[in-house]
Amino acid sequence: MITKISVGKRNEKYDVLIGKEVCSKKNFQKFITKEQKILLLFDKNVPIKKIALIKKQLNSLGAKVYNYAITPGEQSKSIRNFENIHNFLSKNSFLRSDGIVACGGGVVGDLGGFVASTYMRGISYIQVPTTLLSQVDSSIGGKTAINLSSGKNLVGSFYNPKGVLIDTNFLDSLGEREYKSGLAEIIKHALIADRAFGNYLLQHSKNILKRDSDYLRHIITKSINIKAKIVTRDHKEQGIRAFLNFGHTIGHALEHAFKSKLLHGEAVAYGMDYEAKMSLKTLNLCQDDYDFVKEILKTYGFECKLNITFEKLKPFIKIDKKNSANTVNLVQLNKIGSCEMVPIKNINSLKKFF
Ligand code: GLY
Repeated sequence: MITKISVGKRNEKYDVLIGKEVCSKKNFQKFITKEQKILLLFDKNVPIKKIALIKKQLNSLGAKVYNYAITPGEQSKSIRNFENIHNFLSKNSFLRSDGIVACGGGVVGDLGGFVASTYMRGISYIQVPTTLLSQVDSSIGGKTAINLSSGKNLVGSFYNPKGVLIDTNFLDSLGEREYKSGLAEIIKHALIADRAFGNYLLQHSKNILKRDSDYLRHIITKSINIKAKIVTRDHKEQGIRAFLNFGHTIGHALEHAFKSKLLHGEAVAYGMDYEAKMSLKTLNLCQDDYDFVKEILKTYGFECKLNITFEKLKPFIKIDKKNSANTVNLVQLNKIGSCEMVPIKNINSLKKFF
């Protein structure tokens, strides 16, 4: 069974297809209309058999496919790779009517999407996210980016793909920590937008942790539906899209402070724990709802036992992208399923939560 979700408005609208074996000729055909050359961008974490299969499907549509492998890891979202891929496209005479298929986790999607948005001022791209985190988060919403030595995602664009193919088969071989890291973003979607979904995550945790395919398809679909509604209303993050950053102000600070020891989803899970505690004070989140947050995090193995001081996190909290002059803008819960942006004028007032 394949589920379809539409994201975006008017001529920027695209479909996300979710299911097992979704990377079929028939489904690629929905998105590949004029492309005669396709750059198949992937990282070496993606099983080569899967890449060969995708290449075969694209070839069968009459496209000439060029493989381009990058090294897994955040360091690949570099200006150098960005330039190298542009040169590769140009040397192989890619035209504006050609395209990119980005197959991998968030790094491949962000880099491939940014190249697509800039080569010849924009060519088409399709996302084939292979990690749970990229399936429920980075592949949805058209954010593309590369890193600078001074910070992550500092150069980028909002550029929607032509389509997203989410094949849950990719998740079978995902490591446990990687899998749970994706679950953290799914939990976040429930906490900011849908209490009933939060209850479902609590009730069915055993099957979800076992990666039962029906439960997986359900939670991925539910999660993408939540994100799709938000990014369709606010593509360029002028307002409600920022709510998707619940847990991320402290989460990003933890990621920086612990260098690469924490996966993104782990840092966000612990960030949600701290930010829910702050919500008790800033928005009078009730104790029952706070306990709900703790329970759901604990159920998925995110009991926060980090040894960290406010002083260590403070410099990183200060550089959060949502901040405005001297104000930390924090996404806070007012109840499960609902949130608000709360301006914190005095950053030191957060010290008591650590
Ligand atoms: N990951 C947050 C967003 O897409 O806006």
